[in-house]
Amino acid sequence: MTPSDVKATLSFSDGSPSMDLPIYKGSVGPDVIDIRKLYGQTGKFTYDPGFLSTASCNSTITYIDGDKGELLYRGYPIEELARNCDFMEVCYLLLKGELPNPQEKKDFDRLVTVHTMVNEQMQFFLRGFRRDAHPMAVMTGLVGALSAFYHDSTDVHNPEHRAIAAIRLIAKMPTLVAMSYKYGIGQPYIYPKNSLSYTANFMRMMFATPCEEYEPNDVLVRAMDRIFILHADHEQNASTSTVRLCGSSGTNPFAAIAAGVACLWGPAHGGANEACLNMLGDIQKQGGVEKIGEFIKQVKDKNSSVKLMGFGHRVYKNYDPRAKLMRETCHEVLGALGLQNDPLFKLAMELEKIALEDEYFVARKLYPNVDFYSGIVQRAIGIPVPLFTAIFALARTVGWIAQLDEMIGDPEYKIGRPRQLFVGSKPRQVVPLAKRA
Ligand code: ACO
Repeated sequence: MTPSDVKATLSFSDGSPSMDLPIYKGSVGPDVIDIRKLYGQTGKFTYDPGFLSTASCNSTITYIDGDKGELLYRGYPIEELARNCDFMEVCYLLLKGELPNPQEKKDFDRLVTVHTMVNEQMQFFLRGFRRDAHPMAVMTGLVGALSAFYHDSTDVHNPEHRAIAAIRLIAKMPTLVAMSYKYGIGQPYIYPKNSLSYTANFMRMMFATPCEEYEPNDVLVRAMDRIFILHADHEQNASTSTVRLCGSSGTNPFAAIAAGVACLWGPAHGGANEACLNMLGDIQKQGGVEKIGEFIKQVKDKNSSVKLMGFGHRVYKNYDPRAKLMRETCHEVLGALGLQNDPLFKLAMELEKIALEDEYFVARKLYPNVDFYSGIVQRAIGIPVPLFTAIFALARTVGWIAQLDEMIGDPEYKIGRPRQLFVGSKPRQVVPLAKRA
């Protein structure tokens, strides 16, 4: 970390001695005030629920400028990556810091491809679930269970174990997501086919049956690949922070990623794409575009808990660059499938237009996030709504694993252990049961 010439001084109004705090500079973005010695010197903690002003680590992976609406993976703008690279190149970039040359890409594709099968025993594990279980419930279990199958890659402090666990997780997630889908609909599992690309292979495992081959459609494969790229990493969001915190105890990589899957499930995070499509479906059922005004009124009503799903973001206070790319993909996919008049897409565009002109959303800087259009694209591809978040988890796995690896490799890394402001009862004595009123 590069120290700044400027220091912060913390002073107290009760005459306690003031304290100088070092400041470190980032390569871009806000500097940070180093408060690590604060408790030792003042006996006080900082208080920042939800981490609104707290950097939990230093990182070289992903940078977001929420005011500009900018997202960079290892310095490359997301727009350039989405238009010029495939998901495997982006995985390589996130894991290794540089884009691969043609030979490195070929080797990496091959390495991932030869790990796409899962232990055959996995299907018996899957059989323990109800057929109607939510795919994210199944995925949380399956990803955690990987540590029971791949014992030679569970030591998070061993770089070779971490490297092979990373490849296994990236390679096996599509297989597991497709298996959880097939299990839910009672169809036989489709084994991976190594001659296909990562994304075409995933779509084949989803949509082929033993009696009918699936011919991957290039536009749809490219759209799905873009969904993977756009969701691959997003710096210290809730699920990534969960993976870092979980992994900081030294637990195995599969267990740490399972924690990320569990966190991602929530509707305020990865579950928003499912919630968004359900919301659009509800408005459509109630009358469609004509009912937007009424719906927006409910969203703005402080006494209702209704939110415009797919809108707003903790970091972006401008248009989420991923949402713009997703909207572009939405046009391509609906065009390729002859669904330009898809009522939900029309509804989404109208809803976006109205919200972006409404004072409530303007004042709070609420713009569409990536989930606003990704559900429509996935639905058009044929992905069932409850599987949306599992696909997000598939794509985010590379980000989680890159962040976990970065943390473990950081010489300053410690187990994550936040403190608290205690406002409960002061010390008191237990009254024996018989004497309690
Ligand atoms: N609809 C209506 N009002 C909203 C929305 C929304 N989607 N998002 C924020 N607001 C309002 C809040 O009510 C609050 O209003 P107030 O100041 O009058 O109280 C104000 O905007 C600030 O919102 P916060 O909730 O404080 O913002 P925060 O950063 O904590 O939350 C979040 C961000 C969780 C994403 C929120 O915008 C939200 O719930 N959005 C809908 C769910 C969603 O799309 N999540 C996906 C996130 S992206 C991802 O995970 C890939």
